[in-house]
Amino acid sequence: MLFTLLTLVAIANAAVIRKDTGVKIIIGNDDGWAVANVRRAAATLKSGGYQTLISAPADNKSGSSSLEFPPIPLITAGQFNTIPAGAAASGVDASDPNAFYVNSFPATAMEYGIEKIAPTIFGSAPDLAVTGPNVGSNLGLVTQFSGTIGAAAEAVKHGIPAIAFSGAGGSQHIFTEADPVADVYAQVAKKLVDAVVASGAPYLPANVALNVNFPVSDATTCTQLSDYHFVQSRVNVDINPFTKDVNQCGNDHLPTESSVIESGGCRVSVSAFWATSKLDVDKATQAAVRSKIGGLFECKP
Ligand SMILES: *[C@@H]1O[C@H](CO)[C@@H](O)[C@H](O)[C@H]1NC(C)=O
Repeated sequence: MLFTLLTLVAIANAAVIRKDTGVKIIIGNDDGWAVANVRRAAATLKSGGYQTLISAPADNKSGSSSLEFPPIPLITAGQFNTIPAGAAASGVDASDPNAFYVNSFPATAMEYGIEKIAPTIFGSAPDLAVTGPNVGSNLGLVTQFSGTIGAAAEAVKHGIPAIAFSGAGGSQHIFTEADPVADVYAQVAKKLVDAVVASGAPYLPANVALNVNFPVSDATTCTQLSDYHFVQSRVNVDINPFTKDVNQCGNDHLPTESSVIESGGCRVSVSAFWATSKLDVDKATQAAVRSKIGGLFECKP
């Protein structure tokens, strides 16, 4: 009996140690806290040993860029009726103690999560922020209007390195439904997060976030993790003929993220951008990112 008790204590202690040492990731989005994509991403990261916390809008707030507004109680029911009208400005999912809604814009939900929720769930600031995967691509100039990008940029402004994920496939529906696209996108996102974390802190250069876009996935296309190939990219076309990007596969101009996604082959675009302007970083900063996660990138087959 004593042996059993000691064993249980040992297991409990091991669980506590694991929880306390896993890298702490705050997860936001702009499609709303109850969509499959964000919940699958959190679950997949958690199963990989990370500590996770979702802090996302109470409803679909696509296209909110970096808008902010203090969270207010819900006037109407929250997304997919997951929150009753009249509920508090922020709350937790009764079935998931690490999933929180914030009734405001994506950037505010991220800020609120960092300042108010993370201290109680993590006991400290998050180590890394992830947003999405958004339902729908965020490529080129569209990034200026994206709440997925806005929430990631907000995290960087609070000193938290951030990665925004978006996918050309999938749809916005409740997380309790099966969603193979959300499942595979979550695994691809985790592969990138693993590489960033393995590169050591600081996970990204100061004031920089990553914009990551996944290609279309459906029943027959890009269905499993091994189908996906990462490529370093630019957010926008480089209109200055004299500037050069970091060298990739013998080329000193990175492809635009749009061209990577349009080229097929289940290629994933990874662009580094300044959190303040949401524009491309310079060559030296591209190189700094490449020196950290360059092992992930492949030349076009
Ligand atoms: C979410 O909001 C965006 C922007 O208003 C809209 O285009 C999209 O259809 C909405 N999605 C759903 C599932 O309502």
